This record gives sequence, C-alpha cells and structure tokens, in this order.
Amino acid sequence: MRKSLVAGNWKMNGDKASIETLMNGLLNGLNSGENSVSESIDILVCPPTVYLSQVADEIAGSGIQSGVQNISQFESGAYTGELSLAMLKDFDCRYAIVGHSERRSLFGETDTQIADKCAAALDAGVTPILCVGESLAQRDAGEALAIVTAQVQVVIERCGIAAFNKAVIAYEPVWAIGAGRTASPEQAQEVHGAIRAVLHDADAEVAAATRILYGGSVGAANAAELFAQRDIDGGLVGGASLKVDDFLAICSAAAAA
Ligand code: PGA
Repeated sequence: MRKSLVAGNWKMNGDKASIETLMNGLLNGLNSGENSVSESIDILVCPPTVYLSQVADEIAGSGIQSGVQNISQFESGAYTGELSLAMLKDFDCRYAIVGHSERRSLFGETDTQIADKCAAALDAGVTPILCVGESLAQRDAGEALAIVTAQVQVVIERCGIAAFNKAVIAYEPVWAIGAGRTASPEQAQEVHGAIRAVLHDADAEVAAATRILYGGSVGAANAAELFAQRDIDGGLVGGASLKVDDFLAICSAAAAA
C-alpha cells in the first residue's frame, strides 16, 4: 500500500508575511480536521529556498515536511548561485524537486544533469521528486508515452532501479502546468500505468512501492477524480498550493482516495 503524498510547489512566489499566513492557515486547517489528514498522507511544502529556514521553524513538530524546488548535483565549491544537498540538513529538509519542466525548458536542464541531480540527492539521503512530462506537440504527435518513459529510463540507467525505493516520480504534462487545464483522469492514468510498467520491467517490488504523483493544474475540484486512479499516488501542486482552502481540500482528497 503506497502512502499518498501531496507536495506544494510554491515556485517563485510569496514573501515573509504571506508565507506566515499560508503556513498558519495550513497548520490550523490540518489540526482542526476530524480525521487526521496529516497522519494518513505525507504533506510537503517547497518554498523558495530563501524561506526554507522560516518554513522549517513553522512546520517543526507538525508532521508537514519541506522540500526545495531545485538542487545542485555538485557537492560544494565554486558554483555561484547554487544550493548544495548538504545545506538542506540544517533545515531538516528531506525532499528536492528535480527536473521540473520549467527547469528543463527555461534553464536548459538536460536529462543527464537531471539524472546526476537524482543520484546526488539519493547519495545525500534526500528524496528526489523526479518530474517528467511531454509537451503538447509531443502529445499531439502520439509521443507522450515514449517521451515520459524515456525520461524515467535515463534515471533508472544512471541510478539503478533500487533508487526508486527512495525516489518519487511526478508526471506533469507540460501543457497542463499552470494552464487551468488538467489531463483527464484517464489520460493521466494511462501515463502513470506506463511509468509503472517501465519500473516493473526492472523490478516488480520497486514498481509496486514507488509513488507516482500527478501534477498540472491540480485543484480542489479535480483532485479526487485524479487521485482515485489506480496508479496516481498524490499530487505535485503549483498554483493551488498557495491557497489555504484549496491545498487543504487537495490533501483531504488524497487522504480519502
Ligand atoms: P500548477 O503547477 O499546479 O500550477 O499547474 C504544477 C507544477 O508546476 O508543479
């Protein structure tokens, strides 16, 4: 049985005051729920790194965990502007989003760099959330499954299948991110099933245990039907993770799935 995970990717949004308000709202909402949602699923927030310390203080003892949105594959040294995995330990931060489509398309991250980042995260005991997904042109060309499974395969080849005992995959169709348009539950399930099949070809037990999140305009209104799909184990949530009520509703939907 896979425990669902709902991860909020705040992207480059927020400030000290708005983050305090958001976190207070989330913590109050989670504490006041009748069934403890935060015990039945894993909940993660990924703030802009400069606010990691603030978030670490706010979530201490709450069961909510924190992650970063990007990480360096290098250990330390002359890498201006980068953030090392070792630094995360000071903030009890155990997750890193790796290979988000915005990193791939806007900052030129390659499959090889992304695989190196996954390997470095795993070596450091940090769980990578490996993002994969096809563009609209690739979907229209009938290439979605091939693109996505190839993106997963690169990391299997670099890190080994056992790495997925400690990694999370997020399927995020690029055309659905921030678009207000999601993959239908059937479209998402088809890709999630294909990802799990690739893992299964390498190791059935790992495939059964690996969490595969869906991301791309997940909201309060569509979360339940997405999370009801057999191979969807939670969500990577952008815009809706900045709104207390929406994020709480998404967490409740994951807990009920
Ligand atoms: P969205 O973003 O929920 O705003 O579509 C998801 C993501 O990019 O992780």
